[in-house]
Amino acid sequence: MTSKQYILGALTALLFASCSDDEKVVLKYADEGDTGGPNPITQTLKEKAKFKIGAAVKMKDLQNEANYKNAVLKHYNQITGEFEMKMASIWTSSTAYNYTAADYLVGFAQDNKMEVHGHTLVWYDSFPEWFKKAQYDSIAFEAKVKIYITDVVGRYKGKVKSWDVVNEVFADGGAMRNETVINSLFKDPIGFYGRCFRYAKAADPDAKLFYNDYSVVMDAGKRTSIKKMVARFKANGVPIDGVGDQFHYATDTNRQTMKTGFTDLASTGLLIHISELDIKVNTGKSDSYVFNDVENQKQAETYKYIAAMYEELPQTQKFAISTWGVTDKYTWLTSFWHFKEYPLLLDADYNKKPAYQGFLDGLK
Ligand code: G3I
Repeated sequence: MTSKQYILGALTALLFASCSDDEKVVLKYADEGDTGGPNPITQTLKEKAKFKIGAAVKMKDLQNEANYKNAVLKHYNQITGEFEMKMASIWTSSTAYNYTAADYLVGFAQDNKMEVHGHTLVWYDSFPEWFKKAQYDSIAFEAKVKIYITDVVGRYKGKVKSWDVVNEVFADGGAMRNETVINSLFKDPIGFYGRCFRYAKAADPDAKLFYNDYSVVMDAGKRTSIKKMVARFKANGVPIDGVGDQFHYATDTNRQTMKTGFTDLASTGLLIHISELDIKVNTGKSDSYVFNDVENQKQAETYKYIAAMYEELPQTQKFAISTWGVTDKYTWLTSFWHFKEYPLLLDADYNKKPAYQGFLDGLK
């Protein structure tokens, strides 16, 4: 330890000793070798976990920022394209695909012995404008979607190990989303979605196929609808392997509700993917919010709780925990939420936050 680190360590220890229990200060952890606290985190998440640790990534950030790329390589062994493998990115016209970004991510993963989770083949929010404007009837619509799925899954056969075949079909409470082109075309949307799973399976029999949605463990009505769909798929031989809950939650998300819902979701017996994990801290949506040590502590404990809960799954149902992003610097919440947020495991300078240690502590 350098003298600087030693002094800092001594000062930190004094600070810690001076706090009463209920003001427990979470020590700022940092990368080993930095002038971080006295207990630098040395083990990475991917080293400790017995399942994949993933992150949503952007091609442009991998290309343009060395610190971003290094963080992805250091902490994760699975990547999800935040946008690059969606219809809106690939399906540029009725006669052409643009695979550039998707190929880049798949190539990056292969070069670095990482897995790719394909997100997402069919999502009402990612149909390209030209496709929606074409106003196909249900026969033509499904024929085109079948070709799309066959082409895309086929292109990455053996390279993309898993896919979100269908994303976000149900509204809050569990009713079918009615604002989608699919609902306007199909009397039985679930039947259409089941056929999409079959198209994906035919294109790559070895890929693991998921249904993905948000608030699954927190919204009992939505979870009931998902479980009914899963039961129907299983009864009809639709090849579904797993369900993802995105886990866009917060430090004040009710943990008992979360655990009850998680256990209920696990009762499907499918692979369970925590697919887009981020934990909001600015729960009051305040412009004057300060992400201090107490707030860091709350976030660390939430990540620990979620990781520990996931570890209670049978090993056969563990698939991956993926965070939706790499660093607080580029969280989707900044553009979507318009409030200061710090939801991820690495801060804007790519240092590990207490949340990283909390996640590690939750792992067995
Ligand atoms: O890259 C293009 C750029 O070339 C173009 O000029 C620009 C203007 O149209 O768009 C750029 O693409 C944007 C893309 O993010 C860039 O990464 C899209 O407009 C924008 O809509 C897209 O937003 C993504 C959003 O899904 C919609 O696909 C967010 O990054 C992504 O975080 C968000 O992720 C979703 C999950 O897929 C599903 N679960 C919820 C989650 C958060 O909304």
